[in-house]
Amino acid sequence: MEIKNDLLLRAAKGERTERTPVWVMRQAGRILKEYREVRSKLSGFIELVQNPDLAAEVTIQPVDILGVDAAIIFSDILVIPEAMGLPYTMEEGKGPRFPQTVKNEKDLARLRIADDDSLGYVIDAIKVTKRELNGRVPLIGFAGAPWTIFCYMVEGKGSKTFSLARKTLYNDPVFAHKLMDKITDSTINYLKNQIAAGADIVQVFDSWAGILPAGQYDDFSLKYISKIADAITEVPVIVFAKGAYASRKSIGSINCDVVGLDWNMDIKESRELIGPNKTLQGNLDPAALYADFSTLKTETRKMIDQFGKHRHIANLGHGVYPDMEADKVKCFIDEVKNYSSR
Ligand code: CP3
Repeated sequence: MEIKNDLLLRAAKGERTERTPVWVMRQAGRILKEYREVRSKLSGFIELVQNPDLAAEVTIQPVDILGVDAAIIFSDILVIPEAMGLPYTMEEGKGPRFPQTVKNEKDLARLRIADDDSLGYVIDAIKVTKRELNGRVPLIGFAGAPWTIFCYMVEGKGSKTFSLARKTLYNDPVFAHKLMDKITDSTINYLKNQIAAGADIVQVFDSWAGILPAGQYDDFSLKYISKIADAITEVPVIVFAKGAYASRKSIGSINCDVVGLDWNMDIKESRELIGPNKTLQGNLDPAALYADFSTLKTETRKMIDQFGKHRHIANLGHGVYPDMEADKVKCFIDEVKNYSSR
């Protein structure tokens, strides 16, 4: 199907666009009262993720309400560990919990490689979303980077330090690589299935990139992201590695089309390190959305000026926070659109 507003896809491929495309990480859910209404009728987040019609509905809400240039399928990065055999729960205010974790070779041997059947509900949600979007904007598919998924599978929950996961890299690198391989194969299958169902572009979220030193990052994370980027030849690939300052140069040399920057990454320096052949995505400080409207607009303009008009997809430097006002998010989106089309 032809996509009417294809700004994001054109920018991702390096084509010139009339204005800068914009979307916001974690735009579905969290900040919209329309989302909370849908969610409140259910037992929780997981029921919503596993219901293709409702997942499609909340995926499309930000397109209708905020006017973003892309939808991102409503799901979570943690569906991969679940499909591999580690179910999770999502506790209100506490975040994800895995009752079982991967501690040893025996646990590792029990894990499946996720395939066609295991994530059918996401694939169905993508099909419904594509039908209902009817070509208005592209649909972004996504997955967690193997390192970030590894963190949750080993640790069993969120952590400030992910010390168990990092301990494993030092104490049993062979085991770590084996687990990383299984996650990578699952992720490639999963992303390919998302693309076959209609995802127009995919993003790999490496939320915990920043806790590894550069050498370990390249060896235990980027290597696997690079394998994913090599395997995905059908659509553009966005890599967002939060905090991976020291590895920006190596990220610039993998087979992806777009590199996401967090808000601490200097734009000019990142462009020099990553080179001219990638589109950059980002990177307004999410906290700028707490500012008054006029300050928010000024900060948004500064960001647009620094990236320039070409090879940029506007976004925040990380996901929008749950307590942010939808009006502020809308102001950011409108300002990108207005100012970049001047
Ligand atoms: O709008 C979108 O971006 C689409 C949906 C999406 C969710 N999670 C829905 C969600 C996406 C892209 C994610 C990615 C995700 N999930 C990441 C990577 C991005 C990042 O923020 O760094 C990570 C690390 C997770 C893991 C995760 N899921 C955590 C730590 C939590 C709890 C805290 C939180 O972020 O809200 C979740 C839950 C989650 N995922 C919610 C939503 C809407 C909230 C659950 C609820 O409604 O109760």
